[in-house]
Amino acid sequence: MCYAIPGKVVGLKKNIATVDYFGEQRTVLNEFQEIEIGDYVYAQGGVLINRIAKKEAKEILDFWKDKFFELKKIDRKLSDVENIDASPCLLEILQKINLKKRLTEDELQSLIMLKDKEELKLLYETANNIRQKEHDNACCVHGIIEFSNYCKNNCFYCGIRKDKDIKRYRMKVDDIINTAKKAVSEHGFKALVLQSGEDDYYDETKLMKIVTEIRKLNVLIFLSIGQRSEEVYKRLFETGARAVLLRFETSNEDMFSKLRPGTSLKERIQLIKDLKEMGYILATGFIIGLPGETNKDTINNILLTRSLGADMYSFGPLIPTAGTPLADHPKQLKDSILKIISITRFVDRQSKILVTTALETLNKDAKREGLSAGANSLMINITPKNCAELYSIYDNKAGMTENINRTIKDTVELLYSIGRAPTDLGI
Ligand code: 5AD
Ligand code: SF4
Repeated sequence: MCYAIPGKVVGLKKNIATVDYFGEQRTVLNEFQEIEIGDYVYAQGGVLINRIAKKEAKEILDFWKDKFFELKKIDRKLSDVENIDASPCLLEILQKINLKKRLTEDELQSLIMLKDKEELKLLYETANNIRQKEHDNACCVHGIIEFSNYCKNNCFYCGIRKDKDIKRYRMKVDDIINTAKKAVSEHGFKALVLQSGEDDYYDETKLMKIVTEIRKLNVLIFLSIGQRSEEVYKRLFETGARAVLLRFETSNEDMFSKLRPGTSLKERIQLIKDLKEMGYILATGFIIGLPGETNKDTINNILLTRSLGADMYSFGPLIPTAGTPLADHPKQLKDSILKIISITRFVDRQSKILVTTALETLNKDAKREGLSAGANSLMINITPKNCAELYSIYDNKAGMTENINRTIKDTVELLYSIGRAPTDLGI
């Protein structure tokens, strides 16, 4: 199973390598490997993570040779925009998008308010077309390990908030490392997200051990462990973690302080900025549909994500969850999330946009629909089943009941069916 295509190093300047994939070249940062021109390597998120033997690379590339171009052809065909009628106002905005002009906040608002089915179709197709132009058919597929459902916080929306009476678990350090080893050796993952509630049981020493050992597997390590001190994050970067997933949740200060008692939006945003500054690949974003949220808030959320320099946008619908203060809050509609995916693609053409589990929870077909509305990243849950079931940040979480091999197979089949290559071809 491969989640990344090996590329051949064709240029080297200090720690910047140029990597060739069937004639397409990408530059990647090399901090970890001794390499020379002619070597075969894997890159994730623009970071060179592994060098592999020529024989192995050639075997994989032999498989990919035809598939690579075949998938691109399918994707290109599916990314055409059908000519349909739309209001002059929408056509004018789409024209501006095609000319790569920045949209005003009013224009973004008018896109959020679209309701007409045909116009929505046009919106999604236009976003998908831009995704194809900017990223071709590459789609990141990261594995996620949810290693603890303890959390010291009490976010109103969250099913593992401190005050909720649920069965708690903490994976042992060795079990986390072994789960990562299995994800790499059996399933071929090249990037792993390590996620938990904000759980200080995993102190700097434990986290460093986890990162040190998983780094040896030559994978891109994403940390999703909540707010820790700048020092801890610095040490973990030095140890080999290269990406973080930390949402700011909402850009509205009032909503933030009501929904996340005892925490501050300013501090969270400062930390996100510090992490970016430290050199982490940044995944951040927000929840859609929190109580009191207006369309203006949503637009502000997208614009804040961009201004933080997000490499990957992570946002999804609020899933009202039993036993939390927001249990009775209305559910989001799938189209309201797909619209935000498309608008995000217009606002930040270069970004990676994740189809989140929350969206999949809302709708079974969401992976395909999200990827066809401008998104280009996925995560597969590889947490051992007994733990995954307890990591219940919201009710009926998608991707938990199936077995991992099945989920991977289904995901790869889905990607192939829409012409996407589960690969990361650099920045
Ligand atoms: N619905 C949707 N997303 C949620 N999160 C937590 N609870 C919910 C919920 N009920 C999200 C938060 C957090 C991420 C790990 O999960 O945005 O950052
Ligand atoms: Fe903890 Fe994150 Fe849930 Fe808030 S959203 S309670 S910080 S796990």
